[in-house]
Amino acid sequence: MRHLIDPLDFTVSETERLLGLAQQIMDRPGDFARRCEGRILATLFFEPSTRTRLSFESAMLRLGGQVLGFSSAQSSSASKGESVADTIRMISGYADIAAMRHFKEGAPLVASRYAKIPVINAGDGGHQHPTQTLTDLFMIRRSRGKAGGLTIGLCGDLKFGRTVHSLIKSLVRYPNMRFVLISPEELRAPGYILKEVLAPSGHPYTEVLRMEEVMPQLDVLYMTRVQRERFFNEEDYVRLKDSYILTPEKLRAAKQDLAILHPLPRVNEIHKAVDEDPRALYFEQARGGVFVRMALILALLGLEPDILREEN
Ligand code: NCD
Repeated sequence: MRHLIDPLDFTVSETERLLGLAQQIMDRPGDFARRCEGRILATLFFEPSTRTRLSFESAMLRLGGQVLGFSSAQSSSASKGESVADTIRMISGYADIAAMRHFKEGAPLVASRYAKIPVINAGDGGHQHPTQTLTDLFMIRRSRGKAGGLTIGLCGDLKFGRTVHSLIKSLVRYPNMRFVLISPEELRAPGYILKEVLAPSGHPYTEVLRMEEVMPQLDVLYMTRVQRERFFNEEDYVRLKDSYILTPEKLRAAKQDLAILHPLPRVNEIHKAVDEDPRALYFEQARGGVFVRMALILALLGLEPDILREEN
């Protein structure tokens, strides 16, 4: 039985096959509409979410399956002190597959060790968010034709932004990448991402403070929100929250075929006027997340046996 806890749980070939399946589903959704009849997805969300939870639910419903779950720790037995291990043991009898979001780093990994069903990490604290990474790769692949040979700027809260950590971990496995990390000093990417992921990969990377100076080089610009809920005090948040605001003026220096991505939710970091720019792909990116999660559910349930196999 396979789980998806960390983006590296799937090899590059497995990831590519999964994204290929997502594309097939997007092209011919009717062919997949009953593939999960009689199956149940549990969405165990101990932390708020709109897109991730609803896109998982939409994915399972579009496959003809059913969903159950909770959307906050307060509305689950966690508020009575139940452990993640006990919750997942029990859910293993209620559902066929589970997606878990938790405010504690590592909680979905613990769950996967006790589960009798596949567990998907739908975001654990400031750590990883592998299904967002699949969604990001799907959009990069659709807009650029491939994931390699690109200069990608990652901008905003690189410290707490789990989507950034997962995306970097996954992208270093592709050829000829260049990473430009754009953040205030206080929100730099964590040491383990710089020292254990980027440096050993051999791909060039730079850290800069201003987006303007690197804009013309970028093929992909991945904007992120400052993660208010992970700050220790409100003062620091207020000081840093508007560090970067992408505007049409700043985009004048950018390539014509730049892909502007954002995992959403957006707060202030992309001006609404940018939404009209054909390079703004973030809403299309979010739509793709449903097809990616459909493919993932089919693969983990063993209903598409060719996707997850270690050999190429
Ligand atoms: C992201 C997350 O939860 O980490 N949202 C999402 O799943 N699309 C990004 C964020 O909350 O800023």
